[in-house]
Amino acid sequence: MRILVVGSGGREDALVWKLSQSPEVERIYCAPGNGGISERAEVVDAGAEDLEALADAAESKEIDLTVVGPESALAKGIVDLFEKRGLRIFGPSKAAARLESSKAFAKNLMKKYHIPTGQFAVFDDPQAARAYVRQLGAPIVVKADGLCGGKGTIVASTLSEALGAIDLLMEDRIFKQAGERIVVEERLAGEEVSVLVMTDGVTALPLLPAQDHKRLHDGDKGPNTGGMGAYAPAPVVDAATATQITEQIILPTIRALASEGLPFKGVLYAGLMLTSDGPKVLEYNVRFGDPEIQAILPLLKSDLVPILDDVVEGRLATTPCEWESGSCVCVVLASHGYPGDFAIGKEIRGLEPFADRRDLLVFHAGTKKDRERFVSWGGRVLNVIGLGVDFEQALKRAYDAIQTISFDGMCYRKDIGFRALKKPVSR
Ligand code: AMP
Ligand code: GLY
Repeated sequence: MRILVVGSGGREDALVWKLSQSPEVERIYCAPGNGGISERAEVVDAGAEDLEALADAAESKEIDLTVVGPESALAKGIVDLFEKRGLRIFGPSKAAARLESSKAFAKNLMKKYHIPTGQFAVFDDPQAARAYVRQLGAPIVVKADGLCGGKGTIVASTLSEALGAIDLLMEDRIFKQAGERIVVEERLAGEEVSVLVMTDGVTALPLLPAQDHKRLHDGDKGPNTGGMGAYAPAPVVDAATATQITEQIILPTIRALASEGLPFKGVLYAGLMLTSDGPKVLEYNVRFGDPEIQAILPLLKSDLVPILDDVVEGRLATTPCEWESGSCVCVVLASHGYPGDFAIGKEIRGLEPFADRRDLLVFHAGTKKDRERFVSWGGRVLNVIGLGVDFEQALKRAYDAIQTISFDGMCYRKDIGFRALKKPVSR
């Protein structure tokens, strides 16, 4: 079987790593890939949003299955295009991807089908939005309706912050039309968890629950990032909570989409807040979470290929899925300045000792191969994955390995998984 993975981050390196272990896979391609991926897969020179070029590549390379990483390609309709051209692809249609590409659509769907989420209202008019925010008061959450690369949500602690957010989105139009419409939402309190399930539109096959660390600094402080680390399985999701999430959120969402004539195939990712009033949806994503999937896939004992195939073929009900015991953590190594401006082209040293270790992996994100060496080529550069019998061991492996890796300006959080340990890691 020939597989094409679309994307260029740590998520895609993790997918390529897992898929290439399958006895069913004869060749693996990645478009556009990155430095590390170029060693595991054949890279294809097409951007993740260059849909026609991707479909041409899938045709000419006789790809049997394409797996999509980033939401932008799904929101642009890559699945619709591939299916029209008779190419097999894993992911939701453009219409079903609205679950992520329009927060107003997602919130209205939840309201209509009684799926637990925070109180909210949708606005196209800044005046009306301001009046509503004044009426409800802070704390309050203001969200751009459209895709903003993870930057469109403002959790405001004060009224002036919330009013400022409305100005930025609707008057200054910092995210262009993605912020023309906004959702104003009740702020929920609790622990956040990412629940990803495979679904063929009817059945849900849950992956291990995970937690990520979105903030830049230790203690979950500082600006939001694409994610500075993750771990799985999240101990906060016990068996009873997992059942509650499946029955009250995941299955109702899958059924709601089907009732709306938008059957969802692919991976459905529910970003949840575990509130004192039960789990509530903060947002949906229609793709694998990054970095979460980098901490989930190393624990997947089963072959991933039959699972993806069964999603695409709509026969997930009987698909076996086994997990390794133990814990997995992912620590992101980023460039100084990220998520703002940062320098690239810095030589990365010290990766050699980790090749072929089962308990330690390095997934590449913003890297490039420059002759025989790797250089940094993005904000998030590398992901160090530690596996262990428990979080303590997994974290020790990851953090010990990080001591030998270096590039100019390398930054990382020292406290990944602190909630799982119930105490900060002291190093
Ligand atoms: P989103 O853009 O919806 O993924 O939100 C980004 C982050 O903002 C989430 O991961 C939460 O940490 C936070 N957030 C979003 N919505 C809420 C809410 N209603 N209450 C509290 N925090 C929220
Ligand atoms: N880890 C957050 C995301 O993938 O959106």
